[in-house]
Amino acid sequence: MTKRALVSGASTGIGAATVRALIADGWQVLATARRAERLEALAAETGCEWAAADLTVREEVEALVTAAAQAELNAVVHVAGGALGVDRVEDADLDRWRTMYERNVIGTVDLTRRTLPLLRAAGGGDVVFVTSTAGQATYPGGAGYVAAKHAEKQIATTLRLELGGEPIRVIEIAPGMVKTEEFSLNRLGSAEAADDVYAGVEEPLVAEDIAEAIRWSLGMPSHVNVDLMVVRPVAQSSNTAVARQPLRVKG
Ligand SMILES: NC(=O)c1ccc[n+]([C@@H]2O[C@H](COP(=O)([O-])OP(=O)(O)OC[C@H]3O[C@@H](n4cnc5c(N)ncnc54)[C@H](OP(=O)(O)O)[C@@H]3O)[C@@H](O)[C@H]2O)c1
Repeated sequence: MTKRALVSGASTGIGAATVRALIADGWQVLATARRAERLEALAAETGCEWAAADLTVREEVEALVTAAAQAELNAVVHVAGGALGVDRVEDADLDRWRTMYERNVIGTVDLTRRTLPLLRAAGGGDVVFVTSTAGQATYPGGAGYVAAKHAEKQIATTLRLELGGEPIRVIEIAPGMVKTEEFSLNRLGSAEAADDVYAGVEEPLVAEDIAEAIRWSLGMPSHVNVDLMVVRPVAQSSNTAVARQPLRVKG
């Protein structure tokens, strides 16, 4: 029987790659994010269903869950999130910190609690949280994002304990540096600053690497729970230790 997954953050990067990977693996997918035109294009390309929603707006999450409930739902993949700024603690921009908490934590927990009944109605299923290595350890300028991703990680860990004995797997995928179209651009606000993040790094991860980790975890036999998978590029041995090739100077 074809399985059906809800994938958030599907308008770009890791989420869009996850939709493609799951569909290629035979899943039906309901893709969501705020930008309808991007979801529409992804649907034209892959045949996924789509429903636009801002996960920080309760009524929009309700409408999304109504769309998810139109057919059996077997998995929820939480990719939506992201970082804003690299504020030192003493300079914290509280609006940015609130937005990061809303996006990575509140939106994720709201979608989780509203979709659990759908997974139970299907006789069980999977919940995947795409957190970050920022949920494992901190770095200077990272505290706002690190705090949000630590919180998101603990939603996954707590949920796994709370669902003990139910046929629902709770899977956490924690990526390190992934070169996606928008992550660093949204975080730092300019293409130049975003390029600097990856400058000289030999083969940062790409969205498809994380999509494959998600696809593989979901495809394991149902008694196997991948609790946590930390995935970094070889060039990155910790959040702060990144090997960079010397850059060639032009001219
Ligand atoms: N790239 C990395 O290095 C990296 C590393 C570790 C973890 N991660 C995590 O992986 C996830 C995906 O990252 P990415 O690199 O693919 O790019 P990204 O730009 O961070 O993607 C964020 C996604 O979340 C959606 N989103 C943001 N706010 C939303 C909201 N309020 N409601 C609904 N959807 C919302 C965005 O779509 P719309 O703008 O269309 O709503 C977009 O699809 C994020 O959770 C990120 O924190 C990324």
